[in-house]
Amino acid sequence: MSTNPVPWPIEPHTVAKHAVYRQYFSKWFPIMTNGWGGNVTYAEGFSGPGIYTKGEPGSPVIALQTLIGDERNRTRYKKMRLLFVDHDERCVTLLRKRLEVASQPVSLDDLARYGIDLDIRKGQCVPTLERLLTEYKAWGRPMLVVLDTWGGGVPLDLVRRIAKNPSSEVLITIQPQYFARFAEVDSIEHGDEVFGGTTWRKVSELPSDRKARWVIEHYRDVIRKAGFGFVLDFELIDNRGQALYLVFGTDHRRGLQKMKEAMWEVDDVSGVGYRDPRDPGQQTLEIVFEPNVEPLKRLLLNALRAEGPAGCTVMQLRTFALYRTVFKESQVVPALNALLDKGAIEMSEPGPLRFTSNVRAHESS
Ligand SMILES: C[S@@+](CC[C@H](N)C(=O)[O-])C[C@H]1O[C@@H](n2cnc3c(N)ncnc32)[C@H](O)[C@@H]1O
Repeated sequence: MSTNPVPWPIEPHTVAKHAVYRQYFSKWFPIMTNGWGGNVTYAEGFSGPGIYTKGEPGSPVIALQTLIGDERNRTRYKKMRLLFVDHDERCVTLLRKRLEVASQPVSLDDLARYGIDLDIRKGQCVPTLERLLTEYKAWGRPMLVVLDTWGGGVPLDLVRRIAKNPSSEVLITIQPQYFARFAEVDSIEHGDEVFGGTTWRKVSELPSDRKARWVIEHYRDVIRKAGFGFVLDFELIDNRGQALYLVFGTDHRRGLQKMKEAMWEVDDVSGVGYRDPRDPGQQTLEIVFEPNVEPLKRLLLNALRAEGPAGCTVMQLRTFALYRTVFKESQVVPALNALLDKGAIEMSEPGPLRFTSNVRAHESS
């Protein structure tokens, strides 16, 4: 067993991550309990103790509070499963206590009478989580699986199995630096399992300033190929420059839209911002009500340059924003208006409204 203290102080980017989770759970639970009669699963493979040193709730507690605190879910769950795995006995014991408090006035053991099966197991995420999902007959039904590792990721075979399960989604957090520090990675084989092959090892040949970005791009590709129709990924950056990379995989356009809404509805989290890994300017965005759309403008300009004189319609650009950036479709028109005002793009009529970049490809930086 590890000698690190349990619980531990919360990191700034964990605060922001929890804020995104809280928003997303508040959207996911009502949709799923409505559409599947509550016969769905929320699971975590790296659950933690459910609390941090100053009493902040951990992700399993946030999930339970969101589920039972919302009237819209309460009448509907008939067979909801909440399944948690952690390999540290201290986390398992403390998590049980914290969930017992969070479920009040109903005791944890009584949750089953309300249609919620809750289980916490001590074990390695692989294979314990898969077995637990089998034991509770979760396969074949929708699931949201949170895999919050310490940074080192999770074997791809588990992610692939979740991707093949109907209406299932994953939220994975990794720290690209873990893989960028190639020589220090405890086990190169672990990296091969996470990326599903040895291609990631190329990171050792890259200059140090390109390693983390390459890891992110490669991992995004790996998750998409695992079988998810849509992948949203972004970094949470704290004011010390520490990055937590979050990848969300879903098969549903609506899931993607809801996750984006969740991201942009989060209240200000002091000292933490978002970064779109695709933004050529690598700008960190404050988490605020009126988000800064400068990176979106850069991304739209790049997309328009790539299309050349043919240009793109607003609809095409909205689709591009949804699938290829961290921004929402609704943020496209204000960004286009700002680009028009600056003279960076042109609008053509008649016919479908098309935009073309005013900056020729060779002038772009
Ligand atoms: C980043 S923390 C989880 C935080 C939690 N999801 C939250 O947001 O509040 C990672 C947890 O994974 C556990 N862990 C690390 N390696 C594991 C493994 N291979 N299998 C299961 N649990 C593991 C650690 O004990 C730790 O509690």
